[in-house]
Amino acid sequence: MEAVQAPDRPQTRPLFASPDGLERPAGGDVDQRDVGTSTASAPSPVVSTHAVSEPSRSQRPSALVVMSPPHLAELVFAGGLATELARLVDVPGGAVLGDLDSATTRSVLPDVEILITGWGCPPITPEVLEAAPRLRAVVHAGGAAATLFAEQSSAKDLYLSNAGEPNALPVAEYTIAMILLAGKDATGAERLYRERRTYLDREIEFAHTGNFGRTVGVVGASRVGRQVLRLLRGFDLEVLLHDPYVDAASLGVEGVSLTELMRRSDVVTLHQPVTLETIGMIGRDELALLRDGATLINTARGEVIDQDALVDELRRGRLRAVLDVSTPDPLPEDHPLWEVPHLTITPHIAGSTGSELRRLGRHVVDEVARLVSGRPPRVLEQVGER
Ligand SMILES: NC(=O)c1ccc[n+]([C@@H]2O[C@H](COP(=O)([O-])OP(=O)(O)OC[C@H]3O[C@@H](n4cnc5c(N)ncnc54)[C@H](O)[C@@H]3O)[C@@H](O)[C@H]2O)c1
Repeated sequence: MEAVQAPDRPQTRPLFASPDGLERPAGGDVDQRDVGTSTASAPSPVVSTHAVSEPSRSQRPSALVVMSPPHLAELVFAGGLATELARLVDVPGGAVLGDLDSATTRSVLPDVEILITGWGCPPITPEVLEAAPRLRAVVHAGGAAATLFAEQSSAKDLYLSNAGEPNALPVAEYTIAMILLAGKDATGAERLYRERRTYLDREIEFAHTGNFGRTVGVVGASRVGRQVLRLLRGFDLEVLLHDPYVDAASLGVEGVSLTELMRRSDVVTLHQPVTLETIGMIGRDELALLRDGATLINTARGEVIDQDALVDELRRGRLRAVLDVSTPDPLPEDHPLWEVPHLTITPHIAGSTGSELRRLGRHVVDEVARLVSGRPPRVLEQVGER
């Protein structure tokens, strides 16, 4: 099997080397946790009927790893996870693939039982599914496996699992960092210090700052939003939530309308998914409700904000913003957002980067271990869930 190679970093060796002769770690690597958060009933026969904790080479189900660029997989399965995975499943050629339609890929699809996917995985078309009659599960090292399918209904007989929860944690951590730095007006303070290069009277220059008793408005108790709410409990901050689909009291916070949230918050952080209802949800009218000097943080998607309206507000100097996402993403070189004041902009890094990718890999290997031992995945995604 040939690996799909990134132009700058060729893959020189198979990532999932044949494990023959390798010893399994003491205690095995099968996740012993209960089905837990799984809410769905089993959609189809269990992936593999090899109800064994130590599958031999001939018993191991065949799995394809499809994500790109290939060095993404090197980070996802770093720290021994590639070896651990290769003990559970046979990965043809030990390779990471970037396609589902080349002749080489098509030649191995008939045996494949598990697809392990990640960012950059091409659409799973009806033709791919037809070529893979033994496929029973897609384990995605990203937010939603169902979105990989060209036709979502074609996934209904498969186990779908995703790493949305482990990927939500770094987004929440980034958000908390930005909320706290916004409370200190850290970027404003840095700018002032660089300008003046002298002693600054904190009680005069920074009287407007502080993370005691400030109000944070969270939009969306999504996987990310819930982690943000959980982490916010560690601080002396008032927390409001707007989410029409969630009982805020059950999460221990005050539920409010979007209007009230925008009016009362010092910092607003967005965690809703992109839906017909949320596109442009933070428009000119909503931005106008924010108090002077308030901060808007967007780690969700650019589409949920009326970006032109935000540019106008930032140009006026009335608001501050932190954007990890934009429309389009990345922004073109000449976009006005590059020039507006009071904006911290990062290149879509809130989700898993670097070492955090290994948390996704850990989750994927645990899910594959469950499947190989005849159990359903812990995270069982429903088709049409999002
Ligand atoms: N910046 C990054 O690197 C990064 C990484 C991961 C996720 N994200 C983004 O973060 C956001 C949240 O992702 P997730 O996987 O946690 O989402 P999710 O799929 O868990 O969100 C679903 C939930 O959002 C809430 N919701 C739906 N419509 C809403 C509305 N109109 N108003 C308020 N809340 C609403 C509901 O509680 C729903 O259950 C998404 O926009 C996602 O694209 C960004």
